[in-house]
Amino acid sequence: FKVTWDAEAAEKEGYAHFMMKEINEQPKGVYDTLHRRLDKEDNIVLDGIKLTKDDLDKINKVYIVACGTAYHAGLIGKYAIEKFAKIPVDVEVASEFRYREPFIDENTLFIAVSQSGETLDTLAALREAKRKGARILSVVNVVGSSVARESDDVFYTWAGPEIAVASTKAYTTQLVSMYLIALHMAMTKGSLTNEEYKKYIEELKAMPGKIEKILENNEVIQQLADEQFNSENVFYIGRGLDVYVAYEGSLKLKEISYIHSEAIAAGELKHGTIALIEEGRLVIALATQDKLYDKMLSNIQEVRARGAYVIGVAKQGNKEIEKSADKVIYIPDTLDELSPILSVIPLQILAYYIAVARGCDVDKPKNLAKSVTVE
Ligand code: G6P
Repeated sequence: FKVTWDAEAAEKEGYAHFMMKEINEQPKGVYDTLHRRLDKEDNIVLDGIKLTKDDLDKINKVYIVACGTAYHAGLIGKYAIEKFAKIPVDVEVASEFRYREPFIDENTLFIAVSQSGETLDTLAALREAKRKGARILSVVNVVGSSVARESDDVFYTWAGPEIAVASTKAYTTQLVSMYLIALHMAMTKGSLTNEEYKKYIEELKAMPGKIEKILENNEVIQQLADEQFNSENVFYIGRGLDVYVAYEGSLKLKEISYIHSEAIAAGELKHGTIALIEEGRLVIALATQDKLYDKMLSNIQEVRARGAYVIGVAKQGNKEIEKSADKVIYIPDTLDELSPILSVIPLQILAYYIAVARGCDVDKPKNLAKSVTVE
């Protein structure tokens, strides 16, 4: 009798792939990232981060710099910092940032976002910003990584080890981190009322439970994937924060299923991309922003009128979309500002099942690496 021990299968804890395991670990990652930073009174404690009111009053410009999925988290960070803390923010991919001449001085806060903390372009951009006198804050998952070591302040995401090349739990924990940084900045500066702060914190605390709800809905999304896995040239559209989630959903699909896809702001469709919409074209339409809901419904009608097959993503209760979309995936109701934490989950699951249906190697997609330490 011989016991064979498959270490990798054991590590996957019954899941077929690390990616699905990690998708399912998001309630925990989000919970840990949040609760590590909240005291008993729900104040944000950023130990290890020494940004005082004086420091923040000096800062007149924030750059968020990252690559890939971390860049997409940065886009939402920009929205949160501008809205809550009222400081202008630019977000840029590191491979571009490092080759231009951005305005950086000692009043600049540079935020690097990186799961691995080893991405070469991000590290090089950080060094350049540091050389020019910027204060460096990083949002990193891997403790003691190069980006973390070279930063003035580090905000660790508590995603735990991420193995699958396509990033999932690192992204949602980066989002929580960006919201906490923005809320902390706002409360330190006094740009947000206590009531508003409480409202956002309460909703962040509800996120793990709401993510669970979406995960329970897994089968509906798998069914859609089984119907649509032969699609080519998929479009992701949205407005407001949904555009950034569309970018991430499209990247997930490309990375693991090798289907060409594109994400654009729905309002830009008529400036070119709508020319590509034809019979049967799959369009994923995110419509989670209440104040942009009606506008999104018109965009859905526009693409439907040209033959697109539309899968909508909307908040529970917003049923109007059923009249325009072919299928709808619902996420639990939430505040518009925080919806990306939820709306990305069905897109991750959809990409996953489409890739599985196409027989792709989900955890190790061709040509891609988990951590890009070369130029
Ligand atoms: C690679 C990975 C992506 C990741 C990007 C940035 O392309 O495949 O999943 O988003 O690098 O990595 P980082 O470790 O800096 O977040």
